[in-house]
Amino acid sequence: MLRAKITGTGMCVPDRIVTNHDLTQWMDTSDEWIRQRTGITERRWVSEGELPVDLAEKASREALLQAGLEADDIDCIVVATLSSQAVFPGTSFFLQERLGLSDTPCFDVGAQCSGFLYALQVTNSLIRAGTYRRVLLVGCEVHSTGLDLTTRGRGVSVLFGDGAGAVVLERSEDNDRHASGILEVRLHAEGRHARRLWTEAPGSGTTPVRLIHAMLDDGRIYPYMEGRFVFKHAVTRMPQVLLEALHAASLKLDDVNLFLFHQANLRINEHVAQEMKIPAHRCLNNIERYGNCSAASIPMLLAEADRSGLIAPGQIVSMTAFGSGFSWGSAVLRR
Ligand code: ACO
Repeated sequence: MLRAKITGTGMCVPDRIVTNHDLTQWMDTSDEWIRQRTGITERRWVSEGELPVDLAEKASREALLQAGLEADDIDCIVVATLSSQAVFPGTSFFLQERLGLSDTPCFDVGAQCSGFLYALQVTNSLIRAGTYRRVLLVGCEVHSTGLDLTTRGRGVSVLFGDGAGAVVLERSEDNDRHASGILEVRLHAEGRHARRLWTEAPGSGTTPVRLIHAMLDDGRIYPYMEGRFVFKHAVTRMPQVLLEALHAASLKLDDVNLFLFHQANLRINEHVAQEMKIPAHRCLNNIERYGNCSAASIPMLLAEADRSGLIAPGQIVSMTAFGSGFSWGSAVLRR
């Protein structure tokens, strides 16, 4: 049986650092409030003229280098994002152009903060079905250009950062129980809560036209979030799906060497870890430096874990996310 394994990881964040203190020049907030409630001390935001594809390309080239591949070795490009570079086409098409490829298929997956795990299930299935041998999967977000930087938006805007994380997935025919590869991906969604964490406009559901000036004035172009409701659901759903994926892979919590949780709020992750009795040293977080980078958060963590030697070959990594939709999921892999 075929399986997919990750042979390269990469990440890129903009050079521009925006501290909590910097945010106080635009809105009524404080470093203390943000750190206490979210664990974030700074995030990276793009500078003028810097594009999502700039981040995606750098992360991709790093992942390709680690995999020992050239761009034209790739059979398909998938980008998970909720902040596409254009309304259409998806960011993946701009990335394909940057990588100098002429007819490699590419598409975007939109499942918000769970987007990387949704896209991982798709790419894993494509490789296991024998459709593609090598896939480049990138989580890429530029949130900063879509935030309400006035005090009205402070409940959401302080959370988000820009960044990209990439993985190269390759077909493996090694069927040994201990061979490296994606072991399980489990996904769920609850669309009845879609409007509790969303950006409504400009969407095709706003009639008779997608964008009118009033939408800017009343803030409908900015993310809306029922923070406490989201928090409560995240701390319930994440442990459920984490255990579901581990069970499906015939593994136990103690078998996991490293837990990577989506970086929405450090308090959510601490809550989940505490409830599941997972010691802090087996969880990697980077939200204090990068904020919430949605679909890019988990591949960025994976790249950082690789760079700092936190995952040895053969070790088990569990990745879990919750986000808008609501959507949530968990994946288990052997490195
Ligand atoms: N600075 C200072 N004060 C603030 C700020 C801020 N940045 N934001 C809100 N406040 C104020 C509010 O106005 C409110 O003031 P009031 O009591 O005078 O009315 C007070 O702080 C409390 O506000 P809450 O929104 O109730 O704060 P809460 O304790 O719920 O914390 C938070 C907010 C951190 C956002 C939390 O609800 C949370 O983390 N929720 C989950 C976020 C998440 O997981 N998102 C999912 C991922 S995003 C995605 O998928 C796209």
